[in-house]
Amino acid sequence: MRVVKTRARARAQVRRWQEAGERVTLVPTMGALHEAHLNLVRLAKRSGRAAVSIFVNPTQFAPGEDFERYPRDLEADAAMLREGGADLLFAPGAEEVYPGGLEATTRVEVPGLSAELCGAHRPAHFAGVTSVVARLLLVMLPDAAIFGRKDYQQLVILRRMVEDLHIPVEVVEGPITREDDGLAMSSRNRYLNTGQRQLAPLLHAVLQECAQRLRKGERDFARLEQEAAARLRRKGFAPDYVAVRRAGDLGPPAAAAAGEWVILAAAWLGAARLIDNVVFRQ
Ligand code: PAF
Repeated sequence: MRVVKTRARARAQVRRWQEAGERVTLVPTMGALHEAHLNLVRLAKRSGRAAVSIFVNPTQFAPGEDFERYPRDLEADAAMLREGGADLLFAPGAEEVYPGGLEATTRVEVPGLSAELCGAHRPAHFAGVTSVVARLLLVMLPDAAIFGRKDYQQLVILRRMVEDLHIPVEVVEGPITREDDGLAMSSRNRYLNTGQRQLAPLLHAVLQECAQRLRKGERDFARLEQEAAARLRRKGFAPDYVAVRRAGDLGPPAAAAAGEWVILAAAWLGAARLIDNVVFRQ
């Protein structure tokens, strides 16, 4: 695996592979890697070269969030990626990604959806995500980029951004990787203490129950969302939201319509903000 730190080297390596007829897929990450990331790398490898970026992006954290204490261990991450078969690691510093600084620089924002759901609780978050992912895609120009489905709203927003800006990169959805008890793997799970860790799978269980009730024909979405949030609250979570939406564009579902729906939730458990979702066909 090649490790590069500059935009020029990252682009040059991707171009070399592409000129040799190989397809390159980027897996953008913030490091603190785990099995779920490796599954995305394996998915990338199926169609050619797997490039991974590691950059803890300051612009997607609000003041007071966990930017400072976000786990960083580049050596351990690189070792895991080598083991997992990645071909390229791009690990730039902030000056490579934001050469003009973090403040007086161009921002990329998908309006509307970026202010809803997680965006209602983390107002600048998605503008930070789109601003950094646009840069990473344009710097490296891979053939495809994989984003895990656990961050469902992020995936939908990034699809929109790539489409709106005509960025010539295919957006590929990666699977959610779960622990044996159902908890979606996340770098932030390490903020959970032992008791919280035991409780954490309830988030997924509650979403599955909601999906089951909807499949059986329940259509009072507001009641379902409120009951799910109340159940989480009783058990010690502090939910930001539970919401039923259309899977394609995260618009509100029509009670009578068929199609793909998603139930999304974000809830605090101690110092960890957990997010999860269940997608199902109605
Ligand atoms: O999902 C993440 O890890 C981040 O939001 C991403 C896409 C790497 C952008 O910083």
